[in-house]
Amino acid sequence: MFDEIRFNTIERLPNYVFAEINEIKLNARRAGEDIIDFSMGNPDGRTPQHIIDKLIESVDKDKTHGYSVSKGIYKLRLAICNWYKRKYGVDLDPDTQAVATLGSKEGYVHLAQAITNPGDVAIVPDPAYPIHSQAFILAGGNVHKMGLDFDENFELDVEKFFFKLKKAFRDSAPKPKFVVVNFPHNPTTVTVDKSFYERLVAYAKEERFYIISDIAYADITYDGYKTPSIFEVEGAKDVAVESTTLSKSYNMAGWRVGFFVGNTKLIGALQKIKSWFDYGMFTPIQVASTVALDGPQECVGEIIENYEKRRDVLIESFKNAGWDMGKPKATMFIWAKIPKVASHLGSMEFSKQLLTEAKIAVSPGIGFGEHGDNYVRVALIENENRIRQAARNVKKYLKSLENEVSCR
Ligand SMILES: Cc1ncc(COP(=O)(O)O)c(C=O)c1O
Repeated sequence: MFDEIRFNTIERLPNYVFAEINEIKLNARRAGEDIIDFSMGNPDGRTPQHIIDKLIESVDKDKTHGYSVSKGIYKLRLAICNWYKRKYGVDLDPDTQAVATLGSKEGYVHLAQAITNPGDVAIVPDPAYPIHSQAFILAGGNVHKMGLDFDENFELDVEKFFFKLKKAFRDSAPKPKFVVVNFPHNPTTVTVDKSFYERLVAYAKEERFYIISDIAYADITYDGYKTPSIFEVEGAKDVAVESTTLSKSYNMAGWRVGFFVGNTKLIGALQKIKSWFDYGMFTPIQVASTVALDGPQECVGEIIENYEKRRDVLIESFKNAGWDMGKPKATMFIWAKIPKVASHLGSMEFSKQLLTEAKIAVSPGIGFGEHGDNYVRVALIENENRIRQAARNVKKYLKSLENEVSCR
């Protein structure tokens, strides 16, 4: 019925590549199998107690149950500005340069709705966190994907990045209006230092485009690495906004608390469009989030330490199982090259076989873009015992693949 009635927006959205893996995972679980799940960037830990206590205290008050403020209550916007001041020495105005969003993912969708004219071009690295490009496609824009290159330490190949970026500006008509960057990067874990942003900001001023920088994993770093903010660069606020989130640093993924800060014109646009789309987070969540940012920060250290231990156990035990992976300096992921014996499978088939043969779930690299197909993403969301169990399963599976190859 009504076959002639089309929904262009939905038709332009690709199918969710991870859905196939999810379905196999769910079916296996329903059949009673124990699947060790490294597939989603969904922190498994509990939100720190003092944040939960504040939520409960606030929810028990008479005046916190009405509609809230769509751009975030003043105290929360002030708290994110103070976080920037403490962490980066950056000054931001809570009224004109900060907005709280219902998670940063929502922020991308709304920001793109606010600032994209039909046919506008955004440059997004490939692979990427999928909403970085889909937000612009949903808003009627086009995305120019740019392969991301990095070395064995997961550091960005800055020269190649700018070579490709300049080529994109030469080749693209209309001229790109936005460039999205995300370091530490999901899914590759790739990092940059401040000098990268110095070059990017200078180029944005030269070519006249806006930069949208995602530092969701700003806090989740190891081995002395410190995530830079684009706003450490003088004049970056003229051309850039940056997003952050409480999801990872405070185990608050389900609470939906994100932020965009920086350029007044873009932040104003996001505030305005949000005033049409939503009424903001539930006030007690905003109050408790203020305490997360302003309160004791030992909890963040504990969360990082937990991921770091898991990273080290995973890399060592999987290496013993015959799967060598590079060590990330940041994020809650390992971007693992498919072992040689399985490299002919591609990331989707390899992920399926890992599920059915080794009972472990990972995200196929292809789900983040065509440049991700030689890799899978392993999220550090299972405990150390289960990581060791996964390594034992993988060892058997890789052995069986080797036997298959030698029998051919
Ligand atoms: C790079 C990146 N940005 C943003 C998000 C979304 O975070 P939020 O929970 O704030 O929507 C994620 C979630 O995995 C992410 O990996």
